[in-house]
Amino acid sequence: MGGSADKPVLFQDGKRIDGRALDELRPLKIVAGVLKEAEGSAYVEWGGNKVICGVYGPRECIPKHDANPYKALMKCRYTMSPFASLEEHGRSGPNRRSTEISKVIKEAFDSVVMTGEFPKTQIDIYVDVLQAEGGTRIAAIAAATVALASAGLPMKDMISSVAVGKVDGHLVVDLGKAEDNFGESDMPIAFKHRSKEIVLMQMDGRLTPEELGANIDAAIEGAEKVYALQAEALRKSYEVTEKQEFRM
Ligand code: CDP
Repeated sequence: MGGSADKPVLFQDGKRIDGRALDELRPLKIVAGVLKEAEGSAYVEWGGNKVICGVYGPRECIPKHDANPYKALMKCRYTMSPFASLEEHGRSGPNRRSTEISKVIKEAFDSVVMTGEFPKTQIDIYVDVLQAEGGTRIAAIAAATVALASAGLPMKDMISSVAVGKVDGHLVVDLGKAEDNFGESDMPIAFKHRSKEIVLMQMDGRLTPEELGANIDAAIEGAEKVYALQAEALRKSYEVTEKQEFRM
């Protein structure tokens, strides 16, 4: 975020750096049920991001003293692979950024997964970023929502996510890496699909109160497009399961 001597031209002839219109999402592909052993899983390609998510549980809570007698404990571990981008990711283990992203993802899903149905257990969401190109936490949430739903876990609502922001004075939807790094503002945001309640909102840079409102409106529209693809991915995974069962 912010200016730099190496700042590329982000906006020209009414188009963004990758030729998109202001409210246009990068190509987004979502596939549910990609891992054999996980209860639920999803793979997401969003622009240059490649993210895979596996959900395990409800299962025994470890350590046992963390177990809550009234509900399941949600856990999330977001990591970037060593080859996710040119930035350095070689050191093993969590770092400050991945710890923060894991925490905000977990908190987003705390608000929709009906953990009260599974006391004394834990539900694990693992997200690995195989390739990163701006907006990985948003792609991680898109994958985790589909993975949780494909695990058959009861949820009050689906979560859909998108980043919005300001680039060369323009409100843009779904920032790519250069826009994220060199734009004036970047705001990842996630909504409960039906109620539009915000379950994650972070921001780099600056926006006026009016710009903030316009960004949230644009994010609601962007997230709606993401939701359509999430629902489609789940529908397709059930069709495949039904066909496989039919053949047996
Ligand atoms: O990925 P997201 O936009 O949610 O998080 P960010 O911290 O704003 O990072 C923006 C982008 O910078 C990431 O998507 C990556 O492309 C890149 N990045 C990276 O590759 N390695 C890092 N340690 C931090 C950022």
